[in-house]
Amino acid sequence: MPDYTEVTGRITALCEGETDVIACMASIACELNQEFDHYDWVGFYRVTEPQLLKIGPYQGTHGCLTIPFDRGVCGAAAKTGTTQIVADVNSFPGHIACSTTTQSEIVVPVFGPDGQLFGVLDVDSNQPDAFCAEDAEALEAICAAVFGRPGMKP
Ligand code: SME
Repeated sequence: MPDYTEVTGRITALCEGETDVIACMASIACELNQEFDHYDWVGFYRVTEPQLLKIGPYQGTHGCLTIPFDRGVCGAAAKTGTTQIVADVNSFPGHIACSTTTQSEIVVPVFGPDGQLFGVLDVDSNQPDAFCAEDAEALEAICAAVFGRPGMKP
């Protein structure tokens, strides 16, 4: 089980006082990518219009630019408002493969201070079954600590 203590502390310190969502997303993607070797793609998709996600700051090979809520693991997280943990992406109906090396994935919905959906945090791994409930809890806590603060605007 990865230890999120130090990276969570760095992220909250980096984002303290910052209300620009893109700046915070870029910082989170950078820090998580640097921290965990099994994070092979990490980034955000933002809600830019109803039922549509557009790519935001990320680290890794190029990701698809737009994802409707009715497609992919990201769409499922956005539509349901719940974290998706996929042990084997090849068994997820409608998975969108931005890389042929991705084996497992976790996608966390990102909510603003009033509970509005800002987007999702997507993490891909080239290792099978790389994520568990503890990863979900830690990533949800990071997103709540940063994007749930008063004054955060998409
Ligand atoms: N795999 C995601 C698409 C985004 S790429 O992984 C960066 C999905 O199925 O929604």
